[in-house]
Amino acid sequence: MAYDFSFVPDRTGTGSIKWTDEYKGSFPFSVADMEWRTAPAIRKALSDFAQNGFYCYTAPDEKYRSVVCDFMKRRHNWEISPEWIVCTYGIVSAIHTAVKTFTNAGEGVIIQPPVYHHFAQAVTLNKRLLVNNPLVLTDGRYEMNFAELEELCRDENNKMLILCSPHNPVGRVWTKEELTRVAEICYENSVILVSDEIHFDITKNPHTVLTSIDKKYNGNTIICTAASKSFNIAGLGTSNIIIANEKLREAFEQMLEIDGYGCINAFSYPALLAAYTECDEWLDEMNSRIQSNYKILAEFVREYMPEAFLSPLEGTYLAWLNVSALGIEDEKLVDFFAEKAGVVPSAGYVFGEEGKGFIRLDIAVPERVLTDALERMKNIL
Ligand SMILES: Cc1ncc(COP(=O)(O)O)c(C=O)c1O
Repeated sequence: MAYDFSFVPDRTGTGSIKWTDEYKGSFPFSVADMEWRTAPAIRKALSDFAQNGFYCYTAPDEKYRSVVCDFMKRRHNWEISPEWIVCTYGIVSAIHTAVKTFTNAGEGVIIQPPVYHHFAQAVTLNKRLLVNNPLVLTDGRYEMNFAELEELCRDENNKMLILCSPHNPVGRVWTKEELTRVAEICYENSVILVSDEIHFDITKNPHTVLTSIDKKYNGNTIICTAASKSFNIAGLGTSNIIIANEKLREAFEQMLEIDGYGCINAFSYPALLAAYTECDEWLDEMNSRIQSNYKILAEFVREYMPEAFLSPLEGTYLAWLNVSALGIEDEKLVDFFAEKAGVVPSAGYVFGEEGKGFIRLDIAVPERVLTDALERMKNIL
């Protein structure tokens, strides 16, 4: 079945945090929403549910859990048990809960910048110590600094690593070998590993769920998953956090209770069921659209910005581009692209010091939106 990925939306005036009035008239390539409508089966499920008229307290039941387990097995070759699934409002909130549950004030939490900015916030807002293990750019590809990571994990004050896998914003899909090294380092040093795998369905290179490598890593690992990025339903606010270790799970659930979290959004229930049972074909086509958009962008960069570095996109729909040759201050980059080209990127420095000189472009957009934007960018380069 062919799906429509060409409809060009205008989401101004809908409360969208991406389509702000601040940059009215420009097209947002910033916040990680897709500018493609979600799959038809999800829209139908939501529309049937809306017609039903009961929007009541909802929680994951046996059916919901078994659908999640089947999806993980089918798409990720990953066996999980239904009771391991803990629902949260989102992955950001789950990371905050994990930080509060498994670390104390002043203890170290390691992150690998440049990385999704909410990781650092979850650490600092909760008064934990932010410990950076920056990625290293080697021969045009970001890699982890394992020697430093090992040293940091050996420090008894460092209790947790928050891993981004696949990585936002650099676009890496970590190989099984890389993930095994990370998992082993954390396991050996009793460091809790929070693996944020929200982008795990959006990949070109094969993605490995960290705990599918070896069951022993279930002891100290929390895997954050969701249908939100994969199917563009983040606004429905439900994520599935997979915690195999019963002790860790109980402690995490207790913290959710302390925070007064109970139910899931009623709309997320039918949406997840449809997404995880009827939308594989849509997901595959969506992935191929991202790769074809990335190809268009890469060709543009090669031709018109030959001095710029564009990180290879192995996963996510977020392109990571170094524009430092333009000589524009980091704080002014977004305004520059918005005013001159009607393109609103995310500023790279938001993801850490290491992101200075970069912009991040969300390329999950209709092809025409991308080619028009690049045409406008051509004029300013
Ligand atoms: C790596 C990563 N984690 C988490 C999120 C947000 O998750 P949620 O909306 O479930 O809080 C994003 C959104 O862009 C992300 O890229």
